Amino acid sequence: MEPLRLADLHGSLADPVLAAMEFLNEVANRYPEAVSFAPGRPYEEFFDVDDLHHHLRTFHRYLVEDRGMDAAGARRTLFQYGRTKGVIHELVARNLAEDEGVRVDPEAVVVTVGAQEAMLLTLRALRADHRDVLLAVSPVYVGITGAARLVEMPVLPVRDGGAGLDLDDLVAVARRARREGLRPRGLYVVPDFANPSGASLDLTARRELIRVAEQEDLLVLEDNPYRLFGATEQRPPTLRALGGNRVITLGSYAKTGFPGARIGYAVADQPVDVGGGRTVPLADQLSRLKSMVTVNTPPVAQAVIGGLLLDHGLSLVKANAREIEVYRRNRDAVFDGLAARLPGAAELGVSWNRPSGGFFIVVTVPFPVDDALLERSAREHRVLWTPMHHFYGDGRPLPHLRLSVSLLTPERIEGGLDRLAAFLTEHAEAARAGGGR
Ligand SMILES: Cc1ncc(COP(=O)(O)O)c(C=O)c1O
Repeated sequence: MEPLRLADLHGSLADPVLAAMEFLNEVANRYPEAVSFAPGRPYEEFFDVDDLHHHLRTFHRYLVEDRGMDAAGARRTLFQYGRTKGVIHELVARNLAEDEGVRVDPEAVVVTVGAQEAMLLTLRALRADHRDVLLAVSPVYVGITGAARLVEMPVLPVRDGGAGLDLDDLVAVARRARREGLRPRGLYVVPDFANPSGASLDLTARRELIRVAEQEDLLVLEDNPYRLFGATEQRPPTLRALGGNRVITLGSYAKTGFPGARIGYAVADQPVDVGGGRTVPLADQLSRLKSMVTVNTPPVAQAVIGGLLLDHGLSLVKANAREIEVYRRNRDAVFDGLAARLPGAAELGVSWNRPSGGFFIVVTVPFPVDDALLERSAREHRVLWTPMHHFYGDGRPLPHLRLSVSLLTPERIEGGLDRLAAFLTEHAEAARAGGGR
């Protein structure tokens, strides 16, 4: 048969956002001996196969003892096609109450295949026609721009302004869009230790954001997978806690549980007027869409995550006590290690931010960072990182790179920093000498 033409397939397939992930994986595969500060994967040294069995049994016991199911009902829940909105919705709601002091109706929870599916369903529902656009803080997580591309929903960037979100710019972008006949349907934001910037909104900014969202009639799409990985005693409230159902919560257990389960959720308690004087939660509409995407989220995977929640008293803060400490240790190792290896960083024009939580650190350099430079870093220095331009989506090289500290052990971090410092010094000195490589 004649080859199909890419130009005849969906436009998203030629989009740089979708190609970016493939390129980054491909470089990592080509240089397996490189130390990689690239992937935002959670720490894997604590993964234990026995835990999977244990959590599954805990969830089975919960079905029988707490939910009052008989043996056949519990078996059916695990083995059969299931409730489209999921089977751990009550546990999701109890976890939000336990860790965040947030009350949500379990009926407004849709358990999804990762936060990624929650994003796709939410954007699919919100995008009614070509006028509908999403606003998102730039730089932005590629998962949301990719999902938006799949449903053909343009994403209008809002400036980060150095503090996680420039509210004046948010108002300006929303109003400009309306003047042009567009309908901003929501603002996507990661309020704690964002991917990729590491930025967090302080309490004042959170309150102001909710006020502006009310004023401009915007939904807020809150995605917060890294929130727990900071100092637990100082966590400001979530946007959901401040804004109630002005906020659609996009949840992920990929970092607080484990990504192999592929479990996430949406809390969508916004009323939808379906006519005849009836309203239903937006979650029911997302569920309708989900029934034609993944039918239902695998109950076996839900059971393992549900059991994990139950095994830790419904608290992910408790479940992640060791991980929180590892990520703090790793961040400090990178901050201290960079400072020790680059005492002349300021003169070289090299600097980095110091997020107090999460997985990511952004390094600013005096030279443009493109994919070819990543390739050289891998080949010549055996160290990998992520060019920040991937999170802006226009492909223009920027003088920033992202380091992820989540996956590496202390020994790998030290070895990796030796290589990274050599790479940074070489290219910063070349830039200063006017080489501009
Ligand atoms: C901002 C953000 N949202 C969500 C996710 C996780 O999504 P999922 O639950 O689909 O793995 C990630 C993972 O990299 C992320 O960085």
